[in-house]
Amino acid sequence: MSATRPELTDPFEIGGVPIANRVLLAPLAGIGNWFVRLQAKRHGAGLAVSEMVSSFALHYKNERTLRELLVLHPEEHPVSIQLFGHDAEVMRSGAEIAAAAGADLIDINMGCPVPKVRKTGAGAQLLRDPDLALALAVAAREGSGLPVTVKLRSGISPGDRSGFDLAVRLAEEAGVSAIGFHPRAATKGHKGQPDYALTRELTERLDIPLIVSGGLSSAEAARRAYEDSGADAVMIARGSLGNPWVFEELAGRREAPPSRAEIAGELLWVIDRAEEHLGTERAQRYLRKFYPWYFEGIGASKRVRDELQRTADLARARELVEAARTPIPVG
Ligand SMILES: Cc1cc2nc3c(=O)[nH]c(=O)nc-3n(C[C@H](O)[C@H](O)[C@H](O)COP(=O)(O)O)c2cc1C
Repeated sequence: MSATRPELTDPFEIGGVPIANRVLLAPLAGIGNWFVRLQAKRHGAGLAVSEMVSSFALHYKNERTLRELLVLHPEEHPVSIQLFGHDAEVMRSGAEIAAAAGADLIDINMGCPVPKVRKTGAGAQLLRDPDLALALAVAAREGSGLPVTVKLRSGISPGDRSGFDLAVRLAEEAGVSAIGFHPRAATKGHKGQPDYALTRELTERLDIPLIVSGGLSSAEAARRAYEDSGADAVMIARGSLGNPWVFEELAGRREAPPSRAEIAGELLWVIDRAEEHLGTERAQRYLRKFYPWYFEGIGASKRVRDELQRTADLARARELVEAARTPIPVG
C-alpha cells in the first residue's frame, strides 16, 4: 500500500478542481482573509480555505461582510470560501453569492465549537441534526454550482463518533466532494491529541478525499499526521501563524528555517496588505494579533514588542520591524 501512497507534493483533485499539492491552509476565523490566503499560496500551499463567513450575512448583503470577507485576490486561486449557517435556503443563496465572487469551492463549517455559533444550530451543532447538515450541503452545491466540501469534528464529546457517521452520509447522500476532518471532539476545542486512527478508518471508508486537520504544529508533525492518518491531504492551521514557510517545507521548496531578515520582510508585506485591506487606523489594531507570531521568530526585545503593541502609528510599526531585520550588536 505504501508503495502507491502519494507524496504531500503530489497533485490531487477536489470535485474536478485541480489542487497542486496536498498541503492546505485551514480556515481561521478572524485571520484567513485574502492576504493571509495569498501568503499561504505564495509560500506553496495547494489550496487556501477562507475564514468562516456567515451565510446569513451574505444572503442579507451585509455590507461589511461583502466588503471585507468576500474579497478574493486574482492570484490566490484555487480558493475555497467557508460558509456557516443553519438554514438550507439561506445557505443556497450564500453559496451562490460566494460563487459569483469567484470562489472555486465552497466549504461548509460543521465543526465550530463556539457556543454562540452552536446555539444557532450551526457549526458542530449540525452533528446533532444530520438531515439538516445534508440539506445544507445539497443546497450549497445547487446554489453555487461548485463542488462542496465539509469540515467537521469527530463528535461532540469524547467517544462520540457522530462526525464520522455524518461524514459518510455527506459523501454518499449529499454528493460532497471532500471532507476536512478535525478528529477532536467539539467539547475539547483545540486541545488534546487528535485521533488519527479514527481518521484512517474514515479515509478507508470514503471514496472522496479526506483532508486531516488538528495538531499540525510543524512540517514534521504534518508529515507524521499524513502518514498516521492515511489522509489524502493535510490542513495547516495554528502551525502557519507567523510561519508561512511551513508550506515551503511541506511543498519541498526549502529545508532551512527563515532568517530574521526573511521574517521581518514577511511581516512588512503583511503590514502593507493589511493597510491596503483595512485602511491605516484599523490595520494597526488588526495587526496587533499578528505581531507576536512573527516576533517570536525574530527574538525581539520586550521593549520593542511592547512598543509595537502600543503604537497607533503604522509608520512607527514599520520602523520597528525594519530595525528588527538585523540583530543589534551587543557591547
Ligand atoms: C483562531 C482559530 C480560528 C479558527 N477558525 C476556524 C474557522 O473559521 N472554520 C473552521 O472550520 N475551523 C476553524 N478553526 C479550526 C482550525 O481550522 C483547525 O481545524 C484547528 O485549529 C486544528 O488544527 P491545529 O491543531 O493544527 O491548529 C480555527 C482555529 C483557530 C485556532
